Amino acid sequence: MSDKNRVYIFDTTLRDGEQVPGCQLTTVEKIVIAKKLEALGVDVIEAGFPISSPGDFQSVVEISKAVSEPVICALTRANTKDIDAAADALQYAKRKRIHTGIGASDMHIKYKFNSTRDEILQRAVDAVKYAKKYVEDIEFYAEDAGRADNEYLARMIEAVIAAGATVVNIPDTNGYCLPDQYGAKIKYLVDHVKNIDKAIISVHCHNDLGLATANTIAGIMNGARQAECTINGIGERAGNTSLEEVAMILQTHHALGYHTGIQSKNIYEISKSVENMMRMPVQPNKAIVGRNAFAHSSGIHQDGVLKHRENYEILNPEDVGISSNSIILTARSGRHALKHHLERLGYKLDKVNLDEVYNRFLVVADKKKEIADSDLLELMGDGDSNN
Ligand code: KIV
Ligand code: ZN
Repeated sequence: MSDKNRVYIFDTTLRDGEQVPGCQLTTVEKIVIAKKLEALGVDVIEAGFPISSPGDFQSVVEISKAVSEPVICALTRANTKDIDAAADALQYAKRKRIHTGIGASDMHIKYKFNSTRDEILQRAVDAVKYAKKYVEDIEFYAEDAGRADNEYLARMIEAVIAAGATVVNIPDTNGYCLPDQYGAKIKYLVDHVKNIDKAIISVHCHNDLGLATANTIAGIMNGARQAECTINGIGERAGNTSLEEVAMILQTHHALGYHTGIQSKNIYEISKSVENMMRMPVQPNKAIVGRNAFAHSSGIHQDGVLKHRENYEILNPEDVGISSNSIILTARSGRHALKHHLERLGYKLDKVNLDEVYNRFLVVADKKKEIADSDLLELMGDGDSNN
């Protein structure tokens, strides 16, 4: 597989994800997640925003000591105090990156910084040059790039690469773009930034319109080679791009030629750890890791999947670390699913008997959301009468 199609996975669960109210972790918990991210095969762990609090600073220090394979990254704003703190926090990291940046949209330039395009561009360049004194690997983020003017954005990106940025992050900070627009923005940069081949383009999308994953894929298809994601898609407001979705899209559509270093069999385990430690429940219908992602409940689908799994599954649950799919018995289930579960419990029925049990099953199922094994045992006359 060609390296020009290698997509680097930058995980920001411990920075953009952890910013969410209620998701805060202790340093010890962050180390647990960082080690699982390492086992998952992410390329970069954004470990925190060191200037933001002594606790965040310490977490970056301890993660840098505990994890050796991925690059450890620390976030800063475009000022020397932030960058000094990041460099200090990263002192033990085997491989380190400073992630600095500033707003690039006219909205941010005017209403956040009360400044001008030229002044902001100069601050961006100065920040990159200052960070470069400490580390070689500098990622620059052009905040709110999704709403920024492409011509100005291209000028800014060209200038920060000339100043030493090795990765240029084009965030759709407010989740505003449509996939076509975001893809075209990345292509515009590929076509107009003269020194773009000296840096990796990174995509960082938010999910305000439910388009974070689609925009990330559009960015990759137009030349980005780093995707910034979080486990379970947690993050500010409606969240960030979900890591498991990007990884499994690229794996499922392998004909596109992209590849990552993600060990997909470790996805479910880390999803559960993040869900539990951050007290952020995963919605049941969440792609890849939701409770229903591999559950079949209607008769037509159950019949199809029992005949051949791939009739209704484009992913193998085992590939993401889930032991098997599930056939849920409800009033929408058919005879095939009932027979499957009865056989699992040791009952072999001929067609006449199955029809008779099925009719009684429907009466019970109409009164319940889901039929459990204990209901089936009762239906077969083997139930515990105390239940
Ligand atoms: O969404 C965003 O723009 C960010 C930057 C700080 C990278 O999180
Ligand atoms: Zn973000």
